[in-house]
Formats: sequence, C-alpha cells, structure tokens
Amino acid sequence: MIRVRRIDSVVDAVGNTPLVRLRKVTSRAPDVDVYAKLEFANPGGSVKDRPALRMILDALRDGRLTRDKILIDSTSGNTGVAYSLFGAALGIRVRLVMPSNVSKPRKDIARAFGTEVIFSDPLEGSDGAILKVREVIAEEPDVYFYPDQYANPSNPLAHYDGTGREILEAVGDRITHFVAGLGTTGTMMGTARRLHEHTRPIRCVAVEPDDPLHGLEGLKHLATSIVPPIFDAGVPDERVGVSTEDGWDMADRLAREEGLHVGHSSGANIFAAVRIAEELQAKGDRGGLPAGAGRPCVVAIACDRGDRYFAPLNWERRYVW
Ligand SMILES: Cc1ncc(COP(=O)(O)O)c(C=O)c1O
Repeated sequence: MIRVRRIDSVVDAVGNTPLVRLRKVTSRAPDVDVYAKLEFANPGGSVKDRPALRMILDALRDGRLTRDKILIDSTSGNTGVAYSLFGAALGIRVRLVMPSNVSKPRKDIARAFGTEVIFSDPLEGSDGAILKVREVIAEEPDVYFYPDQYANPSNPLAHYDGTGREILEAVGDRITHFVAGLGTTGTMMGTARRLHEHTRPIRCVAVEPDDPLHGLEGLKHLATSIVPPIFDAGVPDERVGVSTEDGWDMADRLAREEGLHVGHSSGANIFAAVRIAEELQAKGDRGGLPAGAGRPCVVAIACDRGDRYFAPLNWERRYVW
C-alpha cells in the first residue's frame, strides 16, 4: 500500500505525478503500453508548477530574487497560476501583466492568490503584455525579478531533475518513446536530456501545432514564432505536427473513454503517442526493446486539466455538456 504523504508546504507537493496507462484510446495497439504522465496532479494544476518553482528557488538561492523584490511576468496561463501559488506560499509579491480582454476566470485565479494584475492593450495581445512588462521593469529595475521562462535554464532543469528522473524510475526498463509539446520547450529539453542518458535509446518526439493559426493553447508553431533561447533543435529526435482538430478530438475521447478531462495540448501529445503505438503495433516493431524485456511503452505528458479551458481563449468550439 502507498502511504499518504505528509508535507510541510504546498511547495513539497510539486512533482512525483502518476503515470496512468491508457486502455481504450489505444485499442488498436494492444501490444504497446501508452502512459499519460498526469501533470495536472501538481498543486497549481499544470506542468508549469515545476519550472515556476525551480526558477523561484534557484533565484532565491543565488540572490537574483530577494524577499523585498516583486516577481513580474506577462502570463495569464498556467505559469501565471504557478507563480501566484508559490509567491503566496513563499511570501513573494507577484505582479502579472495580461491583455485586458483575458477571460475573467484567468484574472480571478491570479487575484485569488493575492497577485496584482496589470492590464495591457487588448489589441496588442501577448506581445503587448511582454512590452508592457519591459516598460514597467525599465521604470524601476531594482524592484523586480523577471524569471523569463523562455530563456531561463532553471526551466529545463526542473524537468531534467524531476519529470525525466521520475519517468525513468517508473518505466525506465521499458520506455521506448517520450512525447511532449513545445511551448517554452522546457519540458522537452529537460526531460529528453535526462532520457537520452539511458543506456538504451529512447526516442523523444516533440509535438507542434501543424498550422500557425491553431487552438492548442500552450504550444508554439516554432517555424513562425520567436524561438525560445532555451530551445536546442538537436535535442528532440523527431518533431511532428498535430492539427487542432486532432488535439481537441483526442481530448474529448480521453474525457469520455478514459475519465481524463485534459487540455488540448495534452490531447495533441496523446494523439501523437497513440499514433506511434499504432505504428509499432502495425509493424510488429518493439522500438528497440530487447526480446523478453516486456511490452514497449510510450509516455506522453498530460499538461493540464480541461476545466482550465471552459472560458474561451483564442479558439472556440461549442461543447455540449
Ligand atoms: C497547457 C500547456 N501545454 C504545454 C505547454 C508547453 O510546455 P513547455 O513550456 O515546457 O514547452 C505549456 C506551457 O506553457 C502549457 O501551458
């Protein structure tokens, strides 16, 4: 029996997320296991808890962040929730800049933790929010700590030390493929670096939207985006495009067939993972796993829960609940 964990702070609840085996959506690949790593089990409800906490702790350790400073960033999504949560838990003031047309629940969740929200021009979108952060910092540079998750090495390190290590501990004897989407790219960079240290090759597959105009919140179409400085194109073994429709449809299926109500980037990752499993099955390929070593295994990241998207973002599709 697994003992109930007793912890001193919500900070200690980050990581050690479970891997759940998918049973229905993988019906056409009966000899391959597909696991979803449930990152929504983190206290802030997403994979971004790991890098947000690590960026804060590393900066506290080396003095870039002190208790008199204010953490500032321009995110209304999962990273904003994570900063707000850990800011509250660790006694650090947090200020987030978001376009004023961001949905009310996005504003409310940040404010619930005591975060101060500054609004930028709704017509300028997320780029306007980034420019506004820079303006605010330029006025009083000594007041702020700007984590800059796209360029901060603590972001991939959180996944190298956490996500990657945990996957190896859980299924290191059998994992043949790892699948994660590219946003800041921290999850793929850190986890793949760790998995590539394994004695047997583990193929790390990066998921991107197949179109610049997409509804896979959290993911970037890198060919038409500013490439994050932490991204190294040599790290993933393969990059695959997934359509918005396939990501959304898989998210629906996961809710209805597996009891996993996840966001659409998770749907895209698991869509790609199931496709890999079906290809292995069709070819009778063991993904490099030696005979007698059990069933090959594909692990995909489930980034967050679907209820985070009840309030429409930049893509809307009618749900009938
Ligand atoms: C819902 C969701 N999916 C995927 C990602 C991508 O993760 P990463 O930034 O580590 O590339 C993010 C990151 O913001 C996210 O919020």
